[in-house]
Amino acid sequence: MMRTPIMAGNWKMHKTAREAVEFVTRLQKELGDWEETEVVVAPPFVALAPVAERLQGTKIALAAQDCFWEEQGAYTGEVSPPMVRDVGCRYVIIGHSERRAYFGETNETVNKKVKAALAHGLHPIICVGESLEQRERGDTFTFVGRQVKECLQGLEEAAIQKMVIAYEPIWAIGTGKTATPEQAQEVHTFIRGVVAETFSPQGAEVLRIQYGGSVKPDNVDELMAQPDIDGALVGGASLVVESFARIVRFERR
Ligand code: 13P
Repeated sequence: MMRTPIMAGNWKMHKTAREAVEFVTRLQKELGDWEETEVVVAPPFVALAPVAERLQGTKIALAAQDCFWEEQGAYTGEVSPPMVRDVGCRYVIIGHSERRAYFGETNETVNKKVKAALAHGLHPIICVGESLEQRERGDTFTFVGRQVKECLQGLEEAAIQKMVIAYEPIWAIGTGKTATPEQAQEVHTFIRGVVAETFSPQGAEVLRIQYGGSVKPDNVDELMAQPDIDGALVGGASLVVESFARIVRFERR
């Protein structure tokens, strides 16, 4: 089964609109007509429109870092799936651990957002992952299994092919401490198994599962050599053109 690798840069709260446009201009030049991996950038909301304009006609796809579940209404500060779609996004990151930690996101709100995103033609990148405490207690599989089930609850089987799951162990985010390729592979296989059981083995087979957490040019190759790692969701290293480009063009082992 060939799953096209997907490399996404989650810029979090970094770069102004002007810096974002400059960045993608340089990234595009660096990558040229590269098409072996799918490349996605997720700038802050206010940079989406100018970046979308600059990316027109290129192979680089755009993602939002979040969206609300309602289409419109009195929800001050929120951005809806149709708005995200309209501005030119193909993807939307949902349920990042920072949103869960600082903004009260739960599996239930993630599930609502995933459904709304899919209903408006967006491809959700759904984030799951355990804390250090949970890993040390031996709760990784129970916790991540529940996250996957609850976040995907009530979805149709066909939806599985449209989404990406990102496994991001919280202890590896921004810490420089990556999960070993074996640790990541183990959880990725487990997630694929949960999806196979809950939906279908065929759906699980095509589902792309990204790893996230201190992915850098010098560890991407060994991570991508694992059979169930289909890409990376990159924070820090996606903010620099050279390092993100190197991650995009990882070496197959
Ligand atoms: P870092 O790559 O900076 O560890 O961040 C990972 C992440 O949270 C991507 O969504």
